[in-house]
Amino acid sequence: TAFGQATLTVTDTSTQTISRFIYGHFAEDLGRCIYDGFWVDDSMKVPRKDRIRLDVVEALKRIKVPDLRWPGGCFADQYHWSDGIGPRAQRPTRVNTTWGMIPDDNSFGTHEFLELCGLIGCEPYIAGNVGSGTPQEMENWLEYLNYGGKSTLSAQRAANGHPAPYKVSLWGVGNESWGCGGSMTPEFYTDQFKRYGEFCKDYPGTHLKKIASGPNSDDYHWTEVCMQRIPAWDMYALSMHYYTVVGDWDHKGSATRFGEDEYFTGMRKCMFMDTLVRKHSAIMDKYDPAKRVALAVDEWGIWTDAEPGTNPAFLYQQNSLRDALIAATTLNIFNNHCDRVRMANLAQAINVLQALILTKGARMVLTPTYYVFELYKVHQDARWIPISLNSPDYTYNGQSIPAVNASASRDQQGRVHISLVNLDPNKEVTVSANIQALHVRSMSQEVLTSAHFTDINTLDEPNKIRPLASTAEPLSGDSLSVTLPPASIVVVELRP
Ligand code: AHR
Repeated sequence: TAFGQATLTVTDTSTQTISRFIYGHFAEDLGRCIYDGFWVDDSMKVPRKDRIRLDVVEALKRIKVPDLRWPGGCFADQYHWSDGIGPRAQRPTRVNTTWGMIPDDNSFGTHEFLELCGLIGCEPYIAGNVGSGTPQEMENWLEYLNYGGKSTLSAQRAANGHPAPYKVSLWGVGNESWGCGGSMTPEFYTDQFKRYGEFCKDYPGTHLKKIASGPNSDDYHWTEVCMQRIPAWDMYALSMHYYTVVGDWDHKGSATRFGEDEYFTGMRKCMFMDTLVRKHSAIMDKYDPAKRVALAVDEWGIWTDAEPGTNPAFLYQQNSLRDALIAATTLNIFNNHCDRVRMANLAQAINVLQALILTKGARMVLTPTYYVFELYKVHQDARWIPISLNSPDYTYNGQSIPAVNASASRDQQGRVHISLVNLDPNKEVTVSANIQALHVRSMSQEVLTSAHFTDINTLDEPNKIRPLASTAEPLSGDSLSVTLPPASIVVVELRP
């Protein structure tokens, strides 16, 4: 193996917290995410509560999922909530025209979603329908969910099994309103945001956090118009969506069969998230210097061609070590911009796009991406530690990106965690740092890697890629030295 050297400089001065909501997830009514993912047939031999898979719930509890976004995505703007309440046998069957033109029996609706969130122990984040719904429909959904007093809708909620108000607070006002959410201009959307928002009330006991449908990746004009026209007090967050697409939208590339060319391009494109966050934040700073409005990257991840032999509209893709490196790098970017990025949702939790979990019948497998969230959960609500990194380049075919990226935080117990990623698949990199400022005495570390970046976990070999405790070099005085294998993620814990 070839070697590289990086140096890391840490200061321990910040007061900024890394919001746990950066570690959020997304579950759209799409393909096998909800139906045959979270929500399975009564006949399936898995531990279940009602039809919710509990093995999946347990796995998500372990990584401390802070919130789950539903019902879309694009599906949100075709969804009519009243289809999904009441006795299941009486619920209408609609066509999921967004994803595959398949019948949807609405057996998974509002109560089922909130039951799922309760089991996971996470906050629900509901995206309301602006594209094909009305302000009245949105107002009614919120009253149904959150009103604790006497009304016909709250009585209906009680009759359907939940007398207490649900207190749903995270609320999306539309999704991708520039595209599948209604093909709007930013001027038209901001007017709609204000119109619908007017009827999204704070019922007693619940403050609604309204999230505006934000830009498509580098559409800076969209951000400018939203920030100009929606007052900061009226919007909890502005969303932004960016997917790592290695090829183009027509030929995205395979999830498992790719060479270093596509690997390198994937990494370069994933790192574009840093530019996006910086540029959108700079626009937001102009209108909201106090940073009241969060940037919510509520859809992100790698999007490849669907697995051969699966319905292309179901967006089912495998998940390799490359995906884990993309997740780890992206989360480092979010951590390092935690002053503005206070929410993010990976797309998506199960069986869709960059999934945490893949299922086949009663069996399931945790993907390499899942393990990144397990390793990084230490950053949730921890105090961010600014670092600067001097990294060697990873060069391929005359193009270069920094081989190493990192972020760090100190948790409530005083432990410092540094998450380091080496994107270079051909070189081991040793990172050295002077850690005098951290006042720590002992350390341990975990590493996630595999022999090749195309490696995956399968039902037959589910533990091929998982974090392993690795022997750490003893701390000597004020200097830390960590060796990162090629294409690896290492999380170091330093204890006071
Ligand atoms: O996550 C899949 C889709 O990607 C979502 O439905 C949509 O919002 C985005 O275009």
